[in-house]
Amino acid sequence: MQIISSLSELRTARLSLTGRVGLVPTMGYLHEGHLSLVRRAKEECDHAIVTIFVNPTQFGANEDLSKYPRDMERDLNLLHPLGVDVVWTPTAEIIYPPGYQTWVEVDALTKGLEGAMRPGHFRGVATVVAKLFNATQPHKAYFGQKDAQQAAVIRRMAVDLNFPLEVIISPTTREADGLAMSSRNKYLNEAERKAATVLFRALSAAKELYEAGERDGETLRRKMKDVLSNESLVQVQYVSCADYDSLEELDVVTGKTLLSMAVYLGKTRLIDNFVLG
Ligand code: PAJ
Repeated sequence: MQIISSLSELRTARLSLTGRVGLVPTMGYLHEGHLSLVRRAKEECDHAIVTIFVNPTQFGANEDLSKYPRDMERDLNLLHPLGVDVVWTPTAEIIYPPGYQTWVEVDALTKGLEGAMRPGHFRGVATVVAKLFNATQPHKAYFGQKDAQQAAVIRRMAVDLNFPLEVIISPTTREADGLAMSSRNKYLNEAERKAATVLFRALSAAKELYEAGERDGETLRRKMKDVLSNESLVQVQYVSCADYDSLEELDVVTGKTLLSMAVYLGKTRLIDNFVLG
């Protein structure tokens, strides 16, 4: 496993990978969710490149970039047994050198949901992912369904900008009680951690209604809100029942649909989603 920071060394390492290359972009502090993407990349491609970069441009002014959890040694120890070929760990100066002024903006898809709560977030995500694609030239790039809007934005960007690669969206890895794995879960205290299963419970309740034949978008949203409101520690930010591709809110569910939500548990912000249909 080559661990590389500079762009020129990455280019040299990339040229030496002859077969099909799978890319897994991450911000580090790896958990089973990240590792499931790495395992899949290894299964489906000849080589895997993992990037670890806490991207400053996707953090808002009120979101504490300096507090984002980091542990490079632990991350590398987790990646080593998976047979990763290259780990790229660029610095902010490598990604955004002095004078940097080029940005990727995906339009309508970034207006709602996370985009509405986190202005500028997806501009930072789309820009860094485009740069990671250019630097690593993968055949396939792996992202988690956990970040559903991010997945939709990246799929759109890859098509719109003619990246010659396949974007693969992989299922959300969960704890035994249903909580979606996230680097942010470590901020939860014991009571909050218990309450955090309410996202999974709310999504499951709406899915159950859907499976019983319910197709009214507002009824599904109300069901999720009702379940969330039973948990006193939870503050709901949004609840959504939207078209899977356009992310537009639905009055009536017909095709592939995204149920999603963002809540605060104390100071910790959690998101989760289910795909229907
Ligand atoms: P990060 O939060 O580190 O996540 C890296 C990848 O792991 C993303 O594609 C994310 O959707 C996926 N992931 C996170 N939790 C998961 C889970 N429980 N199950 C399955 N996949 C999961 O997302 C980012 O970093 C950044 O925005 C990035 C794309 C790297 C750009 O900076």
